[in-house]
Formats: sequence, C-alpha cells, structure tokens
Amino acid sequence: MFESVSAAPPDAILGLTDAYKADPNPEKINLGVGVYQDEQGRTPVLGTVRAAAARLAADLASKSYLPITGSADYAEAVQKLMFGDQDEIPRSRRAVTAHTPGGTGALRVTADFIRQNFADATVWMSQPTWANHPAVFAAAGVPTKTYPYFDKASNGLNFEEMIAALKKIPEGDVVLLHGCCHNPTGIDPTAEQWAEIAKTLRTVGALPLIDFAYQGFGEGVKEDTAGLQAFCRPGEELIVCSSFSKNFGLYRERVGAATFVAADQDSMLRVASQVKRAIRSNYSNPPSHGAELVVTILQDAKLRKQWEGEVAEMRDRINGMRTLLVEKLAEHGAPGDFEFIKRQKGMFSFSGLTPDQVERLKNDYAIYIVGSGRINVAGITPSNVDRLAKSMADVLKG
Ligand code: LMR
Repeated sequence: MFESVSAAPPDAILGLTDAYKADPNPEKINLGVGVYQDEQGRTPVLGTVRAAAARLAADLASKSYLPITGSADYAEAVQKLMFGDQDEIPRSRRAVTAHTPGGTGALRVTADFIRQNFADATVWMSQPTWANHPAVFAAAGVPTKTYPYFDKASNGLNFEEMIAALKKIPEGDVVLLHGCCHNPTGIDPTAEQWAEIAKTLRTVGALPLIDFAYQGFGEGVKEDTAGLQAFCRPGEELIVCSSFSKNFGLYRERVGAATFVAADQDSMLRVASQVKRAIRSNYSNPPSHGAELVVTILQDAKLRKQWEGEVAEMRDRINGMRTLLVEKLAEHGAPGDFEFIKRQKGMFSFSGLTPDQVERLKNDYAIYIVGSGRINVAGITPSNVDRLAKSMADVLKG
C-alpha cells in the first residue's frame, strides 16, 4: 500500500534544521527554528533546570500515569504565572488548565475541543502567523481565515485594518492572538490597542484564543502578561495555549498548557470534561518530567527569582544582537533603514527579505532563515553577525 503514498514537503521551519545539518559548509548559520543560543552558539540547559532536575532525581516519587489533564500543582503554577497571584481567575476557580505536550499540543487539544463543541466555528489568525498554526487547526478539521496584522510600509501593526476586520467576525468564531512577541513579525499591540482588541471581540461575541509561547522574551515575565490581562474580566471566557519551550529552555521536554477560562465554575467543569475527552483520544495523558521541572522552579522562591534572571539574560542577549545586526548592516552598506529590527520583540525579526533573497542566502551563503523572511535573532552571535550582515547586504543589493 505504501507505494501509493506521495512525499510531503519538508516542514517550513523544522525542515530547515535538517537541511542545515546536511550542509557541509563550515561557515553555515541556522537562523530558522526559534531556539535560543548563547554567545557560543549553544542552547544551554538553564541553571535552574539543572537544579530542579537534581532535586527530582534524588526524589523519584512514581512513574505511574498522571491524570488526563496533568497534575494539579502544575495547573496552579501555570495559572499563577499567567494571571498573577492576586488575579480573580485562579481564585474563583473558573479556569481549567491541561498540561499538554508543548504549546503545539495545547493548540491541537484546543482545535479538537473547538471542532467537537463548536462545529461551525472558524478560527481567525493574523496575517502572517506562525507557519504551523493553519496546519494544526486544519488537522483537527477546523476552518481558518485570516485578519490583517502586518503593515509592510511601516514595519509595524496595521491596527486600523486589523480592528476593521475583527469587527466583522461572526459571533461564535474564535480569534487567535499572540500574547506577546508575535511570531513571526515581532510586532505586538500597545496596551491601548490590546484594550481595543479585547473590547472588539467582546462586542462581536468572538472567543479569544491566546497563543502564549514567549512569556518573558518581550519586556519581562510579568510585563508580557499585559495583553492577556486585557481579556481577564470577571465572567469573560478565553483560552490560553502556553509553551515553556523557550522561557525554560525545555524544547525537547514538550511542556505546555491549554487553559480554558469559563464564565463560572459550573461551566468550567463541563468544559473540563470535554477537554479530557479530547486529550484521552489523542495522547491519553501527558508526560511528566518537563512539567515537574517547571513546578519545582516556580514553587521555590529562590529558584523562581533565579529563573527570572535567566530569562532576562536571554532577552538582553537577543536585544543586544538586534542592535549589533542593525549596526553591521549599515557598515556593510545594506540598502534601506533597518532600525525597525530594534523595535521588534521576542526571538524573531521579520526582516523584509523576499523568498528569492532567502533562497539566495541559503544556496550561496549557507544561511538558513524561514521563507517568510523571519530571522531567529536568538541564533545570532558575536561570531556570526558580521558574516550574516555582509551576506544580507549582498543579497539586498541584488
Ligand atoms: C518556531 O516558530 O520556530 C518555534 O515555535 C518552533 C516550531 O515548532 O516551529
């Protein structure tokens, strides 16, 4: 039977890592997948993760199954991290958090939940969005559409057109937003714009779905919840898909969460039963190690403080590389104004490079970036920035 199977194209992001690994050029640079690297180009295991892992190894409790939605401790820690200790949502117990295999797992659980409970709903996503978003919802049979987001002329947010489009979204549809550090553009709404987005969704009766994968990489762990907070009003519903791949450096542990905030506790319990049903027929119950690491760090005041320092260090290094890249582009005479790179938030820079220029960077310079022109700034180091800027300048000159 397999002879009738046709080959699928390589993944737009993870496929680049395979191509990079196969490239024999010793000067090759991988700025595709969103993975943090330090100045030496290594993806470190955070000190807090090492400390938590040592504690867990010394006290291996059990490897029996976790509940379908994961441990209660994890759910509580995730909610506190997102909503803050004082927030009404954790206190009123109107949210259920399912521990999922990564942020992608959270999105897929959400997609299955939407398909099973709101069969007619369309999920609206920003144009552009993370390359895997449409595929995750399509795999669950959920239709998707887009709303305007990026303004190429200003390298900023096309807020007027975004709001105009959101105002036309039918009641009962779902609107996917990036909680901070928009992937791929690095452009986030301001606090006032978040307030207006939240008000608009409230008015049309659309359900907000926040993809929250980069908490701490924008302004700070607490500061980056500002967008989310705009949707946290008593009695209001939302879904948050979190990932701890980046901010805890736990990429391969696949640790994330899907949080469904209902209007009240009674409604939450019904939602929770449907979330469990979606998970049970997918991966049954979650793997535990990554989540145990996260809980150990978040529950220990000293480790938690140290972790915030580690996140700040990653954030500062990325921002330093933004400044250096802009300087180097000028030094190499790259045509255009690249100041916008310094204004973008999070791991990525939406460089404006065209698909042809991206191809040339790969074929002629062994520099791997995503076809949309998205550069993983967290992969730039003091040793590769000069070659990167010179190569970008070359392809931009034509
Ligand atoms: C990315 O956008 O590069 C990351 O979220 C990793 C991935 O799975 O695509």
